[in-house]
Amino acid sequence: MNAAVVYESMFGNTRAVAETIAEGLRCGRRAVALDTRLSYPLIAGAARAIPRRLAHQGYEVVARPTGFIVEVTQGPLKPGEHERARAWGAGLVRYGAR
Ligand SMILES: Cc1cc2nc3c(=O)[nH]c(=O)nc-3n(C[C@H](O)[C@H](O)[C@H](O)COP(=O)(O)O)c2cc1C
Repeated sequence: MNAAVVYESMFGNTRAVAETIAEGLRCGRRAVALDTRLSYPLIAGAARAIPRRLAHQGYEVVARPTGFIVEVTQGPLKPGEHERARAWGAGLVRYGAR
């Protein structure tokens, strides 16, 4: 499967998740969107707005936007989130990201 992982990262937490997910993927015209977010129930993640913009750029968006939880604003990721990111990325490859 070819895919692009698009992210924005200020402190490096989202970059770390994106790099984990990108392992095994190569750049192409398929894309997924992800963010890191705080675990407050009423706070939405930034990734929701990304797929439409990717589609306008000609990407096939192959998974729902997903958020990975940080403990506080500057990170780190909550325990287990890096593993969850790895599993999410592996699932994209295994199922062809349909
Ligand atoms: C510009 C900006 C926007 C953010 N928007 C959200 C948000 O919508 N929801 C949320 O839960 N956290 C939000 N956060 C908190 C980030 O999830 C948290 O700061 C994370 O550690 C940032 O990851 P980074 O290391 O990749 O910059 C935002 C942080 C920044 C800097």
